[in-house]
Amino acid sequence: MSGKSTGTMTVTLDGSNKSAKLPLITGTIGPAVADIRKLYGELGVFTFDPGYGATASCDSKITYIDGDEGILLHRGYPIEQLAEHSTFLEVAHLLLNGELPNEQELRQFQQGVTMHTMLHEQLRSFFNGFRRDAHPMAVLCGVVGALSAFYHDSLDINNPEHRRISAFRLIAKIPTIAAWAYKYSIGQPFMFPRNDLRYAENFLYMMNAVPAEPYHVNPILARAMDRILILHADHEQNASTSTVRLAGSTGANPFACIAAGIASLWGPAHGGANEAVLKMLAEIGHVDHIPDFIEKVKDKNSSIRLMGFGHRVYKNYDPRAKIMQQTCHEVLRELGIKDDPLLDLAVELESIALKDDYFISKKLYPNVDFYSGIILKAMGFPTQMFTVLFAVARTVGWISQWQEMMEDPSQRIGRPRQIYTGAPARDYVPIERRKKHN
Ligand code: CMC
Repeated sequence: MSGKSTGTMTVTLDGSNKSAKLPLITGTIGPAVADIRKLYGELGVFTFDPGYGATASCDSKITYIDGDEGILLHRGYPIEQLAEHSTFLEVAHLLLNGELPNEQELRQFQQGVTMHTMLHEQLRSFFNGFRRDAHPMAVLCGVVGALSAFYHDSLDINNPEHRRISAFRLIAKIPTIAAWAYKYSIGQPFMFPRNDLRYAENFLYMMNAVPAEPYHVNPILARAMDRILILHADHEQNASTSTVRLAGSTGANPFACIAAGIASLWGPAHGGANEAVLKMLAEIGHVDHIPDFIEKVKDKNSSIRLMGFGHRVYKNYDPRAKIMQQTCHEVLRELGIKDDPLLDLAVELESIALKDDYFISKKLYPNVDFYSGIILKAMGFPTQMFTVLFAVARTVGWISQWQEMMEDPSQRIGRPRQIYTGAPARDYVPIERRKKHN
């Protein structure tokens, strides 16, 4: 634990004379946190926080979010500055190692990544095991998990060198696996990575090129892709990152942990939201239908949500959404798309929602996924690949958080407790004496 102890908080059990003094810990920025580890020992009570809305599960130096102000910092650097001036691999170095690299460090880091971009030939046959219409997230999850079976030489999680090589392997191979999942789904040959290209460029190349002809990656689209990767690189203890940490806390190998993270990212409340936004826009179909749709979202009896809106932590505009919106306009301009009905629909939907009392009172603002789907669609990505792309970027955050956890001497297996509301202890009943249950 590297936070500072800045005071105490006393909790008293009403109706008894028992109380516990809990240390208050403060990080570099952000609210104080009550350290409740001794609470059960001293008062015999647990805390209850489903969804962990009020619980810090670890201390971390990687990412800071101020949800009320709409601030996102990686190792102290604002996301806006990183998105404007940095490259994805610089941000990857920052997240993993704590500092932006100098030129020599960046060269070494890039080389470390490019050395590992190819997949073991045996891994090719894994793709053939999937149906052609498999969701690429299923393929990604399966193939990344399978990497555990290929690197027995570097699976000792207590060896820093093994952890370093695994991090490089994951960051380097995930775009290749993602692009091959796509190529497999459309029946085209797998394109080998090109190590002379930058990270985002190489990914676009593997996605779009075919062996029969040369392929030139549009530099503006490569820059946009790089920025999209930066915007998705890390986001502190979100569901998939917490999944990676929880899996890692058991001593599981990093490939298995990242496969668990990919599974957790897949859901529509998390990384699957960008795919869900496009489905929602297609269902709305026309700006004239927006008011009806908004009414359905607001109806307590419907389960329809405005996808790409709302966030557990941000109660303000997600700073990534602003950059994404700007990138969206740049990409459409570059592609010569003057009028995009989906973008028009999204802009109108956003403007109506931001004026509506329901969304204002619940502090629901656009999140990173609201515009990302429109950009990716314009760039030619099929909808099913959107979440895959998120996973490619987030792998850097996952592995950085996993590394940090492995280096933390206070880390223990993650093991939450519960409020048990089932039957009290009772005796076994022989089958002939059991009553009929409804
Ligand atoms: N549309 C309509 N109502 C919403 C929405 C939404 N998108 N999000 C939250 N609400 C309402 C919700 O019905 C609830 O109302 P009430 O208090 O009357 O019951 C209130 O706002 C609080 O919602 P919650 O579900 O308790 O909030 P949460 O923090 O558990 O959920 C969320 C956060 C992101 C899952 C949710 O806002 C959501 O489902 N958004 C749509 C999916 C989405 O865009 N997800 C991407 C998140 S950002 C990228 C990522 O993390 O991967």
